[in-house]
Amino acid sequence: MIVTIDGVAASGKSSVASGVARALGIPYVSSGLLYRTATLLGLEAGLELNDATALLAHLRANPLRLEPRAKGNRVWVGERELTAELHSSRVDAGVSRVAALPEVRAWVDAQLRALPEPFVAEGRDMGTNVFPHAGAKFYLTASPRVRAERRAKERPEDVPAIEAALTERDRLDTVQSAPAPDARVIDTGPLTLDEVIGAVLSELPEHVSRG
Ligand code: DC
Repeated sequence: MIVTIDGVAASGKSSVASGVARALGIPYVSSGLLYRTATLLGLEAGLELNDATALLAHLRANPLRLEPRAKGNRVWVGERELTAELHSSRVDAGVSRVAALPEVRAWVDAQLRALPEPFVAEGRDMGTNVFPHAGAKFYLTASPRVRAERRAKERPEDVPAIEAALTERDRLDTVQSAPAPDARVIDTGPLTLDEVIGAVLSELPEHVSRG
């Protein structure tokens, strides 16, 4: 049984996926973390981030382990845990380029499809490309302004710059991010995190929520 939660950048996908997974007593899987891992490993190896052949060879030579948990995912390569480094600004800056490579997308998809069910899968194309037969699909949206305000929290003066950066990320991500025709689209703008989690849980078909 798989539940997919896709959506735009900073729409709260991972917090919602984590909350839904906890309520169901199953793990959630962050696909973005795999794109971030590919980016970090490529940067550390000094590779060009658009050199798909070199990146793929490097990823195959350094197999990773993703530990999906309800409260947050962890990633290892060999004995080394990468989790804390996957949200650094250099990874943020490079990840869209790496995620645009079809060969890297196929590599990420294969990692995800090898994971044991059940789980909540969170990302951009979980319901469309990776798990088209998922038991329930959701797509989270919110305006760039609302997302920037959430990000900026106590620093209202930062909202315009964050809003511009999010609009640019939306543009870079549009190729791979669109709601599946059978996804339930939730505008998270007027809702709290708990309300979004509640909305997802209330929409789950009974066979899914019973596991
Ligand atoms: O969700 P995130 O910020 O960790 O995602 C990191 C990057 O990976 C972001 O640029 C979008 C991309 N991504 C993707 O293209 N497809 C996915 N399924 C998940 C993330």
